[in-house]
Amino acid sequence: MRTISIRSRSLSIGLTTALVATLAACSFGAGPEGYPPQPTEVPAAAPEGYPEPVEGEATEEQEPTEAAEEGLGGRRILVGTDAEYPPFESVEDGEIVGFDPDMMGLICQLADCVPEFQSTAWDGIFSALSAGEFDVLMSAITILPERETDSGATFTDPYFSVGQVVLVRADETDIASAEDLVDAVVGVQTGTTGDTAATEDAGVLEANMQRFDSNALAVQALLNGDVDAVVCDNPTAENYVTANAGQLMIAGEAFTVEDYGILVPNDSPDVLAALNAAIARLKAEGTIDTLAETWLGDADPE
Ligand code: ARG
Repeated sequence: MRTISIRSRSLSIGLTTALVATLAACSFGAGPEGYPPQPTEVPAAAPEGYPEPVEGEATEEQEPTEAAEEGLGGRRILVGTDAEYPPFESVEDGEIVGFDPDMMGLICQLADCVPEFQSTAWDGIFSALSAGEFDVLMSAITILPERETDSGATFTDPYFSVGQVVLVRADETDIASAEDLVDAVVGVQTGTTGDTAATEDAGVLEANMQRFDSNALAVQALLNGDVDAVVCDNPTAENYVTANAGQLMIAGEAFTVEDYGILVPNDSPDVLAALNAAIARLKAEGTIDTLAETWLGDADPE
């Protein structure tokens, strides 16, 4: 893990250099010192040679557009995360590392903010946001309308796609896909989409559901033989397969399709607009794909 982290940090720096060059060349608007505003506004089209932004049009609808163009003036953004979900967020040597912290670092390069990740329990993470304990949540969070309603917040445009998969022990012979979970004892992290996918999509009996405070505890229960399977996001499952060589495997294919978003309180429309503008650029430039290759390898549900 240490090596991955070091690699990622140097990648971050590499990407940052590339982004600075892009910023200088393409006018993201009035950014931090050294990036004087260019005559054009937020670019409607990607620079030559880049694919069109997938969600690019969203930036034009954002309110207020000023923040999207000018950034957040170096503002510190406190990011709440449940840092037990590698490769998206985990604690290494006392530091929160992973795809999400790296991605937020790149977003803030563009949006002129300074991210600070703070670990918090998944259970209660949404009420912590509505209580004002964090500026945003970024925690491999699947975009669900009820999460917006419950926390008085809005998700950014999607920044990554995953699917639920079934993680089993390598010697498992009875479970070959989600369809075989009907009679199985299944471990999930409470209140995740793995929880609902297991009960609602895979039809796991309520009596056979084992809910844990963290996904790491669910995986530990699987290794201990206390549950037959764990349902979680595919890159996280793949991370555990790699980390526990020869002990775990994934049964079948991903059986949901989900998008991750960053959750921003409704009273911070400037933050939402600035993050969306940055996400659109990172998508257009292929930077998110590069980051995914670093942290996830070829973990792709499609
Ligand atoms: N994507 C899933 C969900 O939103 C799981 C997220 C769990 N994230 C975490 N950091 N523990 O429900």
